[in-house]
Amino acid sequence: MSPAQAGLFFVPGEYTGRGLEKGVNGMTDYKTLAGQAEGMLEAEPWYAAAFSNISALVMTMVPDLNWAGFYLMRNGKLTVGPFQGKPACIHIAPGKGVCGTAVVRDETLLVPDVHEFPGHIACDGASESEIVIPIHEGGQVRAVLDIDSPVKNRFTPEDRDGLERLVRMIEEKVSWI
Ligand code: SME
Repeated sequence: MSPAQAGLFFVPGEYTGRGLEKGVNGMTDYKTLAGQAEGMLEAEPWYAAAFSNISALVMTMVPDLNWAGFYLMRNGKLTVGPFQGKPACIHIAPGKGVCGTAVVRDETLLVPDVHEFPGHIACDGASESEIVIPIHEGGQVRAVLDIDSPVKNRFTPEDRDGLERLVRMIEEKVSWI
C-alpha cells in the first residue's frame, strides 16, 4: 500500500506540507516521517530532490534540531549534500569528525555531548549532540545522514531506531544518478 493510500499526507504532485507536526516532549512520529519520505522517494527517487525534501521533513517533524542533512561520498571524501541549517563544512575526510568516523566504522554514531567526542567538527557552534547514520549503496557507505541538536543528550535509542529505519528505506528507494 502506498503512503497516500495509507492515509498519509504526502500525495505526489500535490504536496503542501499540511498536517506535518513537530513532536512534543522530544518525541517524533517516525512512522509518519518514514511514510512521508517514502512518498517523496516514490515521486522522485533522484537523491538531490529526495534528500532536499527529506532534510526539510526531518527539520519540520523532529524537535530541537539545528542542522539536518546529508553528506555524500565523492572522490574519496564526504561532500556536503542537501541539508537544512547553517552553512556547513564542505568536505570531511573518512576518519575525521563524527561523520567521517561513522563512515570508517560503518555504524551509527550517537554522540550525547559533541564536546566529549575527540575530533568533532563544529560546523555550527550551537550543536551540543549529534547522530550520524551511514547510508549504503551495494554494500559500501555512499552517504551519511547527519543530525545535530543544540540540546545535550538529545537523541534516544528510539530516535536511533526510527532514523535507522528511515535510512534502510532510503537505501531501498533512492536513485544515485
Ligand atoms: N559535526 C560533524 C560535521 C558536520 S556538521 O555537524 C553539519 C562532524 O563532526 O563530523
